[in-house]
Amino acid sequence: MLNEQQSGKMWSGRFREPLDPEFEAWQRSIVFDWRLLDEEIAASKAHASALLAAKILTKDETAELRAALDAIAAEHASEAGKALVRDHATAEDIHHFVELKLVERIGPLGLKLHTGRSRNEQIATDLRLYVRAQINLVVKALAAWAGALVEQARAAGDSVMPSYTHMQRAEPVLVAHWLLAYVEMALRDAGRLRDCAARLNFCPLGSGAVAGATLALDRNLAARELGFTAPTANSIDATSDRDFILEYLQALTFVGLHLSRFAEEITLFATAEFSFITLPEAFSTGSSAMPQKKNPDLTELIRGKVGRIHGAAEAVTLQLKGLPLAYNKDLQETQEPAFSVDFVPQMLKLVARFTAALRFNRERMSKTAQSGCLNAMAAATYLVHKGVPFRTAHEKIGHAVRFAIEKGVELGALTLDELRQFGTEFEEDFFAAVTLAATLDCHDVTGGTARERVRQALATASEHIAGLGAHTSTQEAVHAGS
Ligand code: ARG
Repeated sequence: MLNEQQSGKMWSGRFREPLDPEFEAWQRSIVFDWRLLDEEIAASKAHASALLAAKILTKDETAELRAALDAIAAEHASEAGKALVRDHATAEDIHHFVELKLVERIGPLGLKLHTGRSRNEQIATDLRLYVRAQINLVVKALAAWAGALVEQARAAGDSVMPSYTHMQRAEPVLVAHWLLAYVEMALRDAGRLRDCAARLNFCPLGSGAVAGATLALDRNLAARELGFTAPTANSIDATSDRDFILEYLQALTFVGLHLSRFAEEITLFATAEFSFITLPEAFSTGSSAMPQKKNPDLTELIRGKVGRIHGAAEAVTLQLKGLPLAYNKDLQETQEPAFSVDFVPQMLKLVARFTAALRFNRERMSKTAQSGCLNAMAAATYLVHKGVPFRTAHEKIGHAVRFAIEKGVELGALTLDELRQFGTEFEEDFFAAVTLAATLDCHDVTGGTARERVRQALATASEHIAGLGAHTSTQEAVHAGS
């Protein structure tokens, strides 16, 4: 028989043979779950509090354990310290690592901490804390991007550009209106992530291995200490649930989707063919072959990198599908997909700085918005105000557009006599109804591109972005405290 000292394991009692060395190395999770050290320490401290309340630990023992846990966290906070965790020679996972370190520091008292708990509830708790903290980082970074978009929108003033449907010029819109479209996406993304954070914010500690702790622990104590809303309701579910990882990844796929639509538009608008945008040199690269090139590597890499997020969500879906209750080791495999999207906050912050550095070629955008009869809908609306049914107005303006195209001019350059071939309703005030300003301002509805509406939308968007910052601070404090 092997004892724990000989095997160095948390579970050696019933085993006669040591593990196959290759299998042993292959099944260890410390090589990736080292990232959960802070969460493991916070959860362990909370468990110690619950053990004190249950009179399993004395006050002194609890204080000694909690201090030792803090010391372990401090010892491994630096990059070099983190490498020591990752490269640990014998720890099976982060839970085992902390136990080994505790025993090194305070002897047998360190072994008492595992009373009334299981690694199954620990990993479930650590991962919830980790995802919650990541969500805060992503939401903050989304707020930074949305803030940069709003700043650009403000700076754009009354600049205009064509909007597109079917990738064909549609109607003139304010550049600010186009930028605010992305702000809406970022705000929805933040909302989805915050929903996910609220749903996951229940504490699995006290769920035991599957059936609940074997000690009458006050689960509220640990839940409160860790900033959770309440303890989880069902031990079988709590120890086997990883929905929150999947939900987090799925919410991130929307972030990726929106970033990649933005990246695609910027890439396109920066082409010589569009010439709407001058790429910031600080975020572009040259070609080793073609000396004239300035390439949009940042937006291209974003388009490319978001594939990873979708891959991670798909991996976790497949890992969870068909998994029987409750804990199965398969669940360990959900960790790496969760960690693999760590790049998202940094990517968003880069996009925020890139967005702030964009320069719009206002003249070109404005010229493009005013060629190709993009005021045709405004012109049809003019006829509607003269009592013409829209269907008929559409037809009449269609004829006028065809005439203008053949003549090589814009609608506003036709003479009244020319216009009257297509309808007797045309009068002198037609020309004022199809100016750029009128074409914008006729969209005077909530969410429309009328200049006053966009000014209001800017103010509302700024308020919503400020609200994001206010919301993240509570849970951040909890994490910082761990
Ligand atoms: N490293 C394990 C994981 O990530 C921790 C839980 C281990 N539990 C067990 N019964 N072997 O899933």
